[in-house]
Amino acid sequence: MTENGKITLVGIGPGNKEHMTQAARDAIAQADTVIGYVTYIRLVEDLLHGKEVIKKSMTEELDRAVEALAQARAGRRVALISSGDAGVYGMTGPTFEVLFQAGWTPASGIAVEIVPGASALNACAALVGAPLTHDFCAISLSDLLTPWPVIARRLAAAAAADFVIALYNPKSGRRTGQIVEAQRLLLLSRKPDTPVAIVKSAYRKKQRIELTTLERMAECDIGMLSTVLIGNSNTYLRDGLMVTPRGYAEKYDMAGGVAKAGERAGRSLSTGLEGWLDDLRASGENAAILAARYRLPVDYLRQVLAQPPSPTIEEEKNPAGIERHRYSEAERKAVYRAIRERRDMRHFSAEPLPTGMLDRLVEAAHWAPSVGYMQPWRFLRITDTPLRQRIHALVEAERQATARALSSRNEEFQQVKIEGILDCAELLIAVLMPGRESHIVGRRTLPEMDIASVACAIQNMWLAARAEGVGLGWVSFFDPHALAQLLTLPDGARPVAVLCLGPVPDFYPRPMFEDAGWGRRLPVTDILFENCWPEGAQPTPTAY
Ligand SMILES: Cc1cc2nc3c(=O)[nH]c(=O)nc-3n(C[C@H](O)[C@H](O)[C@H](O)COP(=O)(O)O)c2cc1C
Repeated sequence: MTENGKITLVGIGPGNKEHMTQAARDAIAQADTVIGYVTYIRLVEDLLHGKEVIKKSMTEELDRAVEALAQARAGRRVALISSGDAGVYGMTGPTFEVLFQAGWTPASGIAVEIVPGASALNACAALVGAPLTHDFCAISLSDLLTPWPVIARRLAAAAAADFVIALYNPKSGRRTGQIVEAQRLLLLSRKPDTPVAIVKSAYRKKQRIELTTLERMAECDIGMLSTVLIGNSNTYLRDGLMVTPRGYAEKYDMAGGVAKAGERAGRSLSTGLEGWLDDLRASGENAAILAARYRLPVDYLRQVLAQPPSPTIEEEKNPAGIERHRYSEAERKAVYRAIRERRDMRHFSAEPLPTGMLDRLVEAAHWAPSVGYMQPWRFLRITDTPLRQRIHALVEAERQATARALSSRNEEFQQVKIEGILDCAELLIAVLMPGRESHIVGRRTLPEMDIASVACAIQNMWLAARAEGVGLGWVSFFDPHALAQLLTLPDGARPVAVLCLGPVPDFYPRPMFEDAGWGRRLPVTDILFENCWPEGAQPTPTAY
């Protein structure tokens, strides 16, 4: 087996000599073997002198590809011909499928070349005027290899999206219903008088062109060799020509060629992306209403509205409103990242905190807001190892008591790690200062705002620690009186948190309680209400 043959996939264009490219002719001239569907072979008959010609019938595409590979493996140069373009509903697909199946690679010795040709939609468009001068798509109505619902969905989507549509394989002797169904689907979103061109045997002897409307399309003479072009909502017929406007009239005064008010030559339309986004934001309307108006997915509108508007050059120089105060995008992302990735940590590596970091973290806590600016937080840094062990014993006793107090899953709870007191680099006790009763601003009716303020300080430390790459675990399993005694706290002082701080092997991707099946993050819709407490709104369920 010599592996130096070649397969050239040749698009011969519509079918007459004049519209065949020189490259297509050369490829056929250089071939030892020409393979193709009988009708196409007939179209290039006078180029085939002295060549082996293999004619196959319509449904034998894979056979043609297999034959081409066999010939190329025998060292022959093969031209595999398709009418139109070999890559548009043509032989390139089946050929590569067969080649890959047989283990062929581009480096395996058999060269494959593709020679492009004008496809049927180009030929038909050229014969009827300018039907494709705006967005268009091609849909084959052949259900020999494609399920009808797939074809129907594409037809419906293309019609709704206002594409000009080129229908390939619209009808054959046996497939007569598809064009009727296509018409039915298209009429759901296109006007009955939408222009339609039916071109049969373009540039061949039996060429026939019929201009009609969508409403009449299915009654017309359509066959195997026809291509159907269906206009979009702007396409019109005039003097026997089918024209789809490119949109110049939207922007320019067609008589003088001057841009209309609000439009600028060479720039997006006023209703282009930027202008449209400005209009959306200015409308103040919600995503659902805008989605219905523009017939776009509501999720897309939601995403679009959530995006901050990009500042103009003028605004960048002299920002107004929120923009004046906003952090840069990278800074904002970092803030949200720390919030999202903050975890309560219970596994620590046996490493100390880098020098200076503890000071930064305590300072971050101290920047917290506090009711009446009372700053009720005090932190005790535990550096005495026996004291650390006694704190651990206190927490362990409470952990056991909590396990006993659960109404179910008691055994399971014993397995959940709730602290890293003995392993963390630094242990801090957050304590509410004594003498808080003299601070009544903001606490007269809500005395617990002192604890709320300490919680803010701990959250600050939590976020700062995450950004610094170290973990923090908040331990609340302890008897506050016993801990106060152990730490010889003065009367009125109250310990509210045992904080474990230090380097960690890894941050948990999710809350450990979630992974252990003790709860899940509620959807935002369960925690955000409007004006009143909704009927049926439930408290967060417990897992036990
Ligand atoms: C006030 C408070 C006290 C907490 N006490 C403990 C504790 O004693 N032991 C523990 O393992 N986790 C404790 N946590 C951590 C929570 O279990 C944890 O925040 C929650 O499961 C969510 O996980 P995440 O912080 O990793 O997102 C406490 C959290 C808060 C806010």
